[in-house]
Amino acid sequence: MSLASGTKLARVDEIPEAGGKIVDVGGVSLLLTRSGDAVHAFINRCTHAEYRLERADGRLLTQEGRFVVCHAHGASYALDSGACAGGPCTKNLTRVAVEVRSGEIFAA
Ligand code: FES
Repeated sequence: MSLASGTKLARVDEIPEAGGKIVDVGGVSLLLTRSGDAVHAFINRCTHAEYRLERADGRLLTQEGRFVVCHAHGASYALDSGACAGGPCTKNLTRVAVEVRSGEIFAA
């Protein structure tokens, strides 16, 4: 699946600072993260065993305001780069290009 360019994903103010939000759109699940005005997007699929990152109740686990932690076996990734930072991951999260216009986030 790939997202059509221009697909609206969320508003910037829906993304918690030093946190993230899961958005399912167009058959693709994304992790959106934010640090200040910078928004990052990644495919919501852990590189360890390809689980979704959030818990079954929808809650996303973060650590120290810098990492997202996969609920399944504890792999952690940097919120700003998606880099594998600990646990059983071996690769980084897959980045998805986005752009921000008037406070809204779109697939680039
Ligand atoms: S699937 Fe994420 S840590 Fe195993």
